[in-house]
Amino acid sequence: MKYLVVGSGGREHAISWRLLSDGSAEEVYVAPGNGGIDEKYRVDIAVDDFEGIYSFCQDKSIDMVVVGPEVPLVMGLVDYLEEKNVPAFGPKKAAAMIEGSKLFAKRIMETYEVPTAGHWDFIGRETITEFIEKNEKYPMVIKLDGLAAGKGVGIPESREEALAFIDENVKDDSRVFVEEFLKGEEASIFGISDGVTVLPMIAAQDHKRIFDGDKGPNTGGMGAYAPAPVVTPEKLQFVKEKVLQPVIDGMRKEGIPFKGILYAGVMIDGDDIKVLEFNARFGDPETQIVLPLLETKLGTLIHASVNGGLDRVDLKFRDSHAMTVVVSAGGYPGSYKKGDEITGIENVAENVQVFHAGTDTKDGKTVTNGGRVLNVTSTGSSLKEAAGNIYGEIDKIKFDGAFYRKDIGHRAL
Ligand code: AMP
Ligand code: GLY
Repeated sequence: MKYLVVGSGGREHAISWRLLSDGSAEEVYVAPGNGGIDEKYRVDIAVDDFEGIYSFCQDKSIDMVVVGPEVPLVMGLVDYLEEKNVPAFGPKKAAAMIEGSKLFAKRIMETYEVPTAGHWDFIGRETITEFIEKNEKYPMVIKLDGLAAGKGVGIPESREEALAFIDENVKDDSRVFVEEFLKGEEASIFGISDGVTVLPMIAAQDHKRIFDGDKGPNTGGMGAYAPAPVVTPEKLQFVKEKVLQPVIDGMRKEGIPFKGILYAGVMIDGDDIKVLEFNARFGDPETQIVLPLLETKLGTLIHASVNGGLDRVDLKFRDSHAMTVVVSAGGYPGSYKKGDEITGIENVAENVQVFHAGTDTKDGKTVTNGGRVLNVTSTGSSLKEAAGNIYGEIDKIKFDGAFYRKDIGHRAL
C-alpha cells in the first residue's frame, strides 16, 4: 500500500510513522511534511494545492490519501479527490462543517440532543456589545463562528476584557455567540466513523495553556497523555452513545454523512459531560500519544472508514500509557524565530520518540520552522514511567529559546 499524508505537523509525522511501523504501508509520502520526514518521502506540495496533490497521486499510484489538518477538509479536498477516484480518508466539505462552523455544530448538537453549553447568537458588533453591557456574569465565553486556528474563542474575566475581545475580533458582519462557561476537566475523544458506525478511541488529555499550572495564553496544545483517567469506561461509553453516535446518525439523516475522525472536546465536571467543540480530524498533539497505543492496524481502520465495514473491525489499544511533551520556540504562541539549528535529537534514549512538528532541513541540518517544534514522546507501563522517560531525556535536545512545560500529566499524576 502507498499512502500520501497531507499536512506538516507532529500529527502527520505520527500518522506516517504508525502506518509504516504497523505494516499498513510499504511507502508513506507526506506533503508538505517537515524535517522529520525522510527527504525521499517528503513532497513539496501545499495542503491547499488540490491539483498538485492529485497529480502526485497519479504519478506515484497512491492507494490512499490521509488528510491531517482541518483547512483542506473544510475546503473540500476529500470531495475533489473522490470525484477523481482517489480514495481519501476524512470527511467531505459539508460534513467538515462540524468543525468549520461552530454554529453549525451547535445546531447539530441541539437537534440531536447532544449535551453542550447553552448559547446566545449575535450577528455583528453592535448586538453583542449591547449584550455585554448588560451581562454581569464572568468568566464569559465568546466564540467566533468560523475556523480561526485556535484563536476564535475568548474567555474574558471582566466587561473590559470582553469589550476588548470584541473590538479586536468581531467585525460588523461577524457571526458570533456567547456560551455558558463550563468548569471541570477537559478531555479529547476521537471517534472513527464510516458514516454509520462510530468507534471511540482511548481518551486523551491535552494541555492548552503555554505555562505550567495551566497559566498564560492558549496554544495549539503543549503536551498530552493517554489514557486520561478522568474519562472512566462509563464516561467513554456515555460519549459513544450520547455524543458521537447521535451526531453520526443525525448527519447521515441530514444527507451529510460524516466519515473520518469525529473529535469530541468535552468538559467533565463530576458526572456531568458536555461538548465544548467538535473537530473533523485527529487532534495535535493527541494523535502522537493515541497512535503509539493503537494495537489495531491504522490502515485497517482507515480503509474501513472510507469503504464501510467499521462494525466488523476490532478496535484495540495496548494496556499501556503514553505521553508527549511539546518543545516550542521561545515567544510562542506570540511571535517567535525560525531557522535555528536543533541538535541532540539523535542522542535521546531508544524508548523516547521524537515526532517533528515545526521543523525543516537546511544544508543537512534540522532547523526550527514553527511555534510548536518537536513532540517528545514515550510509552510506559504507567504514566509516571512514560513521564520519567521523557523528562530524563528532553534536555539533550537543544535549540535557541527552546521551551517546554514541566508538568504535563499533572492531573493524572
Ligand atoms: P473550543 O475551540 O471551542 O474548544 O475552545 C477552546 C478552549 O476554550 C477549550 O479547549 C476550553 O479550554 C475553552 N472553552 C471553550 N468553551 C468553553 C466553555 N463553554 N466553558 C469553559 N471553557 C471553554
Ligand atoms: N489539540 C487540540 C486540537 O487538535 O485541536
